[in-house]
Amino acid sequence: MLIPLLGLAGLLALGAAMLLLWRDVAWRAKGQRRSVGSLLSHYLAVKAAIWLGKRQCLRLETDAQHAKQAQEETLLKRLRKNANTHYGRLHDFSSMKDCAAFRERHPLTSYEDYRELVSRVASGEEGVLTAERPSILALTSGTSGSSSMLLSTRDTSSEFFLQGVAVCLGTMHRAFPATQSLQRTLKLFYRPSWHLSEAGIPIGPNSSSPGTLHHLFNLYTTPESAFQVPTEPEALYLHLLFALKDPSVGTLESNFASTIYYAFCTLQERWQELVEDVERGRVNPGLDIEEVVRHSLDAWLRPDRHRAAQLRAQLEQGFQGIARRLWPRLNLVLAVDSGSNQVYGERLREYYCQGVSFYSPFYAATEGLIGVNLWPEREPRQYLLCPRSMLCEFIPEGSLEEEHPATLLMDQVKVGECYELAVTNAAGLYRYRIGDVVKVVEFHKQCPIVEFQYRRGQMLNVRGEKVTEQLFYGALRRAVALWPGAQLVDYCCAESGILGPSSGGSDPHYQVFLELKGVRNLTEEQRYKLDHCLQEDSAVYKSFRLKGSIGPMRVQLVGGGAFRDLRARMLSSSHVSPNTLKMHRVLRQRELVGFIQGKIIS
Ligand SMILES: *[C@@H]1O[C@H](CO)[C@@H](O)[C@H](O)[C@H]1NC(C)=O
Ligand SMILES: *[C@@H]1O[C@H](CO)[C@@H](O)[C@H](O)[C@H]1NC(C)=O
Repeated sequence: MLIPLLGLAGLLALGAAMLLLWRDVAWRAKGQRRSVGSLLSHYLAVKAAIWLGKRQCLRLETDAQHAKQAQEETLLKRLRKNANTHYGRLHDFSSMKDCAAFRERHPLTSYEDYRELVSRVASGEEGVLTAERPSILALTSGTSGSSSMLLSTRDTSSEFFLQGVAVCLGTMHRAFPATQSLQRTLKLFYRPSWHLSEAGIPIGPNSSSPGTLHHLFNLYTTPESAFQVPTEPEALYLHLLFALKDPSVGTLESNFASTIYYAFCTLQERWQELVEDVERGRVNPGLDIEEVVRHSLDAWLRPDRHRAAQLRAQLEQGFQGIARRLWPRLNLVLAVDSGSNQVYGERLREYYCQGVSFYSPFYAATEGLIGVNLWPEREPRQYLLCPRSMLCEFIPEGSLEEEHPATLLMDQVKVGECYELAVTNAAGLYRYRIGDVVKVVEFHKQCPIVEFQYRRGQMLNVRGEKVTEQLFYGALRRAVALWPGAQLVDYCCAESGILGPSSGGSDPHYQVFLELKGVRNLTEEQRYKLDHCLQEDSAVYKSFRLKGSIGPMRVQLVGGGAFRDLRARMLSSSHVSPNTLKMHRVLRQRELVGFIQGKIIS
């Protein structure tokens, strides 16, 4: 009698548990019409992400408390692991017992110190820089012209995931609880093109692609086969189509805010075709994709007149705040919007994505994960340096030009000061100057919090005045505010030396190319405002201008879409992928300068 009763009770308990689980799933699904399997797998993924995020955030807090020790441990682990490589023996890693010895006996390095070693790795030699064979050779975006190639190992990606992605997920769930729902994400990602080195190691951009796991768990609006489309315009069209179809999109995500910005530009241009596809439940027959892919995508689509009518009604009213009108439950834009992406983040917030929260999750580079943003609401963006990702050293801004500058460690930097970072990573870079200058704004426990300032290679410098990107952009924003009706879309500069005979004026000066919305011409007086604002912000620039050794800035407007075309040009002439391209703020290639000059309208 007892046993069947227990069995019955067990069954009831199980039933109740299932009911509770299902209530949680249904509540998080917020009325979406999706299959039970799709919702359950999404639910499991969200639960796992919440758990992992919490765990990694706690670990980071502990490390931040003991940052110095975490840094030392990270370094020693690397030195031990790679002691038997060619490089490790050359520098006698096995005799270095602490951080002090390493910093004393190993010099600071730049890319030239690795070029030849990296090509040996590419040609198949083992144990040159890392004990582990690199999983990819990552091409950097190379804003100064030539791109360089860095190693990336399994350690690089697992660390990026655990210390970067997981911590940011934890932060996101805490700061934006609505992201714990089962709404899908529009993930803008383009299949990078790869080629193989002599030894068969893939060469390409570093960025990790959305793995099969994401598709298995139904996290993205775009079906897996559309991620395989090799060309950007076609892939973008498909990303937009599948996102438009889904009224309950919760997050817009990409590496950089620029990618999201350009997606909205394309939506603005092609919305009629897109809505027609939603209405008819097919992929635009004019879209240049393989037949197999088209078939598999068509299978995902059903004619949906109701949604098409909804979309049309919103799109016909213009694009101000369009994101929230297309997707009323949109919670978040998840993309890096600091540094050279600031201009796109601002444009999105003011225009297409009005009223939506933004989270700029990491500060990372091809060299590895540098920092994570634990304070999504703060502006300008601030990142906590990750104590267990790479050894970070700090070169004070005042000694950047010295031949052998002294460096500081995390616990020695001062709030309010600027430093260039030098890193020792998991993939064969030792005390490597990455060229980024950051400002320490605060400490979190023992760990510095930084704001990105500028890249050393992106300074305007015609007479030794060294105007940084951040300084220039600040002046530009103030000037634009003084031009009635004008909104900044994008900009770049060139030093007159690169312009040749077209520079107009003999004194070295800055040439500025601006894409503005709302005005097509500016008076001379208005243009001069920019020069004036920069003089106000930079005493050095001002003194050169007063002395006359720097001539007046030339400000020219380029037509609508000029920067999109410039971006396409940069993509086609380099190996950089659309996922990782950053707009160059100072053009150093004649070819690109000529290209943008061809777009001048006034
Ligand atoms: C790849 O490099 C870019 C910068 O070039 C960085 O923003 C991005 O986070 C990196 N991605 C990974 C997965 O390391
Ligand atoms: C722009 O305005 C100036 C005077 O303010 C005028 O001389 C010039 O022709 C205009 N350019 C164009 C392209 O409209």
